[in-house]
Amino acid sequence: RSAPLVDGFGRTVTYLRLSVTDRCDLRCVYCMAEHMTFLPKAEVLSLEELDRIASAFVGLGTRKLRLTGGEPLVRKGMMDLVRTLGRHLTSGALDELTLTTNGTRLSEFAGELADAGVRRINVSLDTLKPDLFRRLTRGGDVAKVLAGITAAQAAGLSVKINAVALRDDNAGEIPDLIAWAHRTGCDITLIETMPLGEVEADRTDQYLPLSQVRAELASFWTLEDLPLSTGGPARYVRVAETGGRLGFITPLSHNFCESCNRVRLTCTGTLHTCLGQEDATDLRAVLRSGAGDAELTDAIRRAIAGKPKGHDFEIARSQPAVARHMSTTGG
Ligand code: GTP
Ligand code: 5AD
Ligand code: SF4
Repeated sequence: RSAPLVDGFGRTVTYLRLSVTDRCDLRCVYCMAEHMTFLPKAEVLSLEELDRIASAFVGLGTRKLRLTGGEPLVRKGMMDLVRTLGRHLTSGALDELTLTTNGTRLSEFAGELADAGVRRINVSLDTLKPDLFRRLTRGGDVAKVLAGITAAQAAGLSVKINAVALRDDNAGEIPDLIAWAHRTGCDITLIETMPLGEVEADRTDQYLPLSQVRAELASFWTLEDLPLSTGGPARYVRVAETGGRLGFITPLSHNFCESCNRVRLTCTGTLHTCLGQEDATDLRAVLRSGAGDAELTDAIRRAIAGKPKGHDFEIARSQPAVARHMSTTGG
């Protein structure tokens, strides 16, 4: 067995987020610009290349893989990749293989995901109102997502809802969204909007501090702190009245970088060791130069050794903290 991946601050990296495409069938206003130029195919890693890098990480102690996008389920051959990666679950090398999806294609793929060993998925859903959903996603149909969630649950997948808290859009709907999620048997996590990539909307205007949301919720619900569970950025509470779990991801009002366990690979093979920094290692160049496994793992180790201490997002600055969009790194 090889030594674990430890960075310069003593944090062990055990979690890889793999973005399999920069494309998406929705275009959320806080995620993408109105006009996005998508990558040409030659730039994007093949399924074999994605598998090779992911498997190298598994060989280096990665216990959790999350497939992201863009929208992972729009990538051609996606189920082949999921099944191939599923072999690491069977061998016991991996604890969890999961994905973050917008849900529009779950009705089609939920059964295959479950068969490949996926147990939990995260579905992004900021509102239940068809008109607002259409506006926020620039044309999406919320009914498809709801049908997708039903299909996922019918296939035996647990579903966590992700909702970005937006001051002028869904702020008033947040209690309803939480109550709906809990009634439906889903956990739900609220997320503060992060300044990644240039978009038309002013994120300073959209920003809604979750400390404020939490205080409002606490005026009519009993929020019981739960011990931190996923090693991730979310802090969870149980809502006594609904019995459901509610998470808060608050990069702006509370920094959780000191316990970070994750890195991200874009669909072009660039390894970003921090969501909120520009640092980047081109693993595609390593692969396409004909590197063997030893060279690949060396390149990964060097990148991890240089993982930055953390992001320095500030909401006071409406300029993006990093130039790339969230759809490039998958969050
Ligand atoms: P778990 O893997 O269960 O912890 O899920 P998750 O909540 O980390 O993953 P998901 O893909 O659902 O992401 C939800 C939100 O968390 C997205 O907006 C991500 O950008 C954000 N997020 C995930 N990891 C990090 C991180 O390390 N730093 C910051 N700032 N945000 C993160
Ligand atoms: N800030 C916070 N969350 C974002 N997401 C996309 N863009 C942003 C942003 N700028 C969310 C999506 C999805 C998750 C992967 O990231 O809504 O739930
Ligand atoms: Fe697509 Fe997700 Fe970005 Fe929305 S947030 S445009 S669903 S990648």
